[in-house]
Amino acid sequence: MENITISKINYWKINKKKFPAITVYDFSFAKLFSNQGIPVMLVGDSLGMTIQGHDSTLPVKVKDIEYHTKAVRKGAPNIFLLSDLPFTSYFETKQAIKNAARIIQSGANMVKIEGGIWLKTIVKELSQRSILVCGHIGLMPQSFNYFSGYKVQGREIKDANKLIEEALLLEEAGIKMLVVECIPALLAKKITESLSIPVIGIGAGNKTDGQILVMHDLLGITEGKIPKFSKNFLSKNDSIQNAIQKYIKEVQIGIYPDNAHSF
Ligand code: KIV
Repeated sequence: MENITISKINYWKINKKKFPAITVYDFSFAKLFSNQGIPVMLVGDSLGMTIQGHDSTLPVKVKDIEYHTKAVRKGAPNIFLLSDLPFTSYFETKQAIKNAARIIQSGANMVKIEGGIWLKTIVKELSQRSILVCGHIGLMPQSFNYFSGYKVQGREIKDANKLIEEALLLEEAGIKMLVVECIPALLAKKITESLSIPVIGIGAGNKTDGQILVMHDLLGITEGKIPKFSKNFLSKNDSIQNAIQKYIKEVQIGIYPDNAHSF
């Protein structure tokens, strides 16, 4: 696979070429997903649940993200890699710079942070230091206590307008990509059309530039309460490789997520 850069992803946005992304945490899966042609990966703090067995992302530490980022980068040297800055690691600007640098030095191309207007200065300061930043708005798992659970965001007009305003403000501050999680499909479309940077959706309909899924959801490993938007692409007696191919194809032609997997 050729090296995937932010310019390449911008080119996909301009040319309306939808792209698939996946959360990955280790060397072997990174290699597998990369060999199947997934161009963008995220070392998400969802590893708190999928790898560490916690019931939220809150206990994840910067050293955990560093460890998994290094492993994923070894397995997938050419893909575009985002890694999360975990809860509490970017509360203060100085701390955000230090922790983002650690993650970039571990092999990530870009760091992802959750939040709206309060991140303005942090995004500016990171960008001035050539650290690429991805925003994350809508449902923000690090704020689940604040929002009393994992709920769809932006259903009311005033909340939807606030999310559009935050997306624009974050772009102005310097983010180069945005993840929108669990928001109505129409709102995600509006945000995607309003921004010149690539927008990746999860639980946000099929009109965003890219889609991301947690790998455990794609492979049907997740048990218990499965989010409405997630889809098990691995059917009985099929191979993991075929499941990944189905995911790539459905994202590229825009049939995943369909209405049944959107809000
Ligand atoms: O941590 C994660 O896996 C994420 C995705 C849900 C986008 O942030």
